[in-house]
Amino acid sequence: MPTKVKEPKNDRALRFYSDVLGLERLHYGIWDLDDELTLENLKAAQERYENYLIDNIPEGANRILDVGCGTGVLCKELLKRGFQVEGLSPDINQKENFQKNIQTTFHFCRFEDFDPQTEYDCIIMSESCQYIPLDSVFEVAKKALKEGGHLMVCDYFVKDTAKGVLSRSGHNYTNFKKTAETSELEIVKHRDITKEAAKTLEIAKLWAEKILLGADILSEKIRYKHARSWKFLCWLFRKKINRVNQDRDLIDAEKFIEAKTYEFFLFQK
Ligand SMILES: C[S@@+](CC[C@H](N)C(=O)[O-])C[C@H]1O[C@@H](n2cnc3c(N)ncnc32)[C@H](O)[C@@H]1O
Repeated sequence: MPTKVKEPKNDRALRFYSDVLGLERLHYGIWDLDDELTLENLKAAQERYENYLIDNIPEGANRILDVGCGTGVLCKELLKRGFQVEGLSPDINQKENFQKNIQTTFHFCRFEDFDPQTEYDCIIMSESCQYIPLDSVFEVAKKALKEGGHLMVCDYFVKDTAKGVLSRSGHNYTNFKKTAETSELEIVKHRDITKEAAKTLEIAKLWAEKILLGADILSEKIRYKHARSWKFLCWLFRKKINRVNQDRDLIDAEKFIEAKTYEFFLFQK
């Protein structure tokens, strides 16, 4: 069934993960805390996370809606395991990728605009809940779920609202819990995976430092030969440079753990 489309999104950060880093999955993952920081272990952490979600789909559930389905890897895996799955995303690139590679229904819209034409056994929001207005998360899920159906949310939330850039993404944890409570969906399972997820930021920081070191080495000669012009350029771009420095907090695992919490919730209608 066609659903209403508003403001199609084209998320460049997500394209960076998939097109540049070659990551098929767009979530943090669940690390084994002793694992070395390698790309292979990041991929393994993401697969561990995906298996954790699948293992927690309640017994007997078959009709699944993957909200914010990203590259569609979870949908593909669920189809392979015999579930009836549909994907949903407002991102134009994800729509094209999904329709090219996956033979199942795709809803090209935001979840808050979704008009369900059927009842699902389970709705999965894997790192997509944070993009959806809180009221709509529960209201639309309740409309789309059959009686006794489940809503699975796995995402990060802001615990400390005074942590600058770090407090800007993710729902406020207290508000999320309050809205969930008033929605009357019942929490039937819960797990805190903050530490296991935050390790992805350690590897991001490691890569960022290597890239910056490379840029530093390559620009050494220019900085030395054209010291005045270099100073002028730094002054000209001072605001951008400041912003980049602030944004480095976004890939600081310790700061993430102080400001945020990454949790798995399974709700039942
Ligand atoms: C971080 S990605 C997670 C992708 C995938 N679920 C995963 O775990 O790899 C966030 C996803 O949410 C989608 N999204 C953003 N805003 C949305 C909205 N309002 N409603 C539904 N999905 C949304 C994005 O297009 C993207 O697919």
